[in-house]
Amino acid sequence: MATTTAPAKRRTRARDTTVFLKFLMATTGIVFIGYVLLHMYGNLKVFAGQEAFDSYAHHLRTFGEPILPYGGMLWIIRIVLVASILGHLYAAFTLWSRANGARSQRYAVKKAAKATLGSRTMRWGGVAILVFVVWHLIHFTIVKPAINADVSASAIAESPFTMMVASFQLWWMVAIYLLAMIALGLHLSHGTFSAQQTLGWTQTARGYQRARTIGYVVAAVVVVGFALPPLAILFGIVG
Ligand code: HEM
Repeated sequence: MATTTAPAKRRTRARDTTVFLKFLMATTGIVFIGYVLLHMYGNLKVFAGQEAFDSYAHHLRTFGEPILPYGGMLWIIRIVLVASILGHLYAAFTLWSRANGARSQRYAVKKAAKATLGSRTMRWGGVAILVFVVWHLIHFTIVKPAINADVSASAIAESPFTMMVASFQLWWMVAIYLLAMIALGLHLSHGTFSAQQTLGWTQTARGYQRARTIGYVVAAVVVVGFALPPLAILFGIVG
């Protein structure tokens, strides 16, 4: 008697599909774009002086009171950011391993799509940004070490403005931040474009070009906006 073995059926869950993972990357990426733009705008308040910057940092914690407790809005933002990071990393690493497993040999034909510096550095640039954010949180939020011998730990704990100035009076600290901003700029220029492509906003030649331009503009605004306060402090314009 002839027997046939039915091929084992593998059920694909919706959340494992490449389309869903790409959608997750795009939407969590847009959350980050919004956050870095707001954070960059907030940092520019150092140009308004110590009182303005410190009261802005204080307002971040009292925002929404009395409906929210002290620091409540900041905690909501933190929870959204942590959830977005987890989603972004899950999607990135799953797609990364899928792409590696897809074919071990390169195709003989050259890829048709034009690779930009941003697109070629997405993976390792993303890892560099993650390392930077961990370091950045230790530096400015969790430990707040007194790195500058001229400024005491208590002065740093009391005033976010003093903490910024004490940090960026050191050239090597400015160098670390500038390098991180270059990585962020490259990641954002391609990521912003790619998110729009995933969401289907690049169907026409015009839409494609617009998405590329938005990617470059977002990256330039974020890099320049973030770089200005450290440079102004280093050169004694703010302090
Ligand atoms: C030159 C660039 C940057 C400067 C000068 C800077 C400065 C600061 C400062 C002073 C704080 C503490 C704010 C406070 O406690 O009131 C902070 C917190 C933070 N920064 Fe940045 N930042 C920069 C870039 C970035 C980038 C690129 C990211 C993300 C990709 C980022 C993510 C964060 C996060 C998540 C916090 C913690 C907010 C919280 O939960 O309290 N920063 N930053």
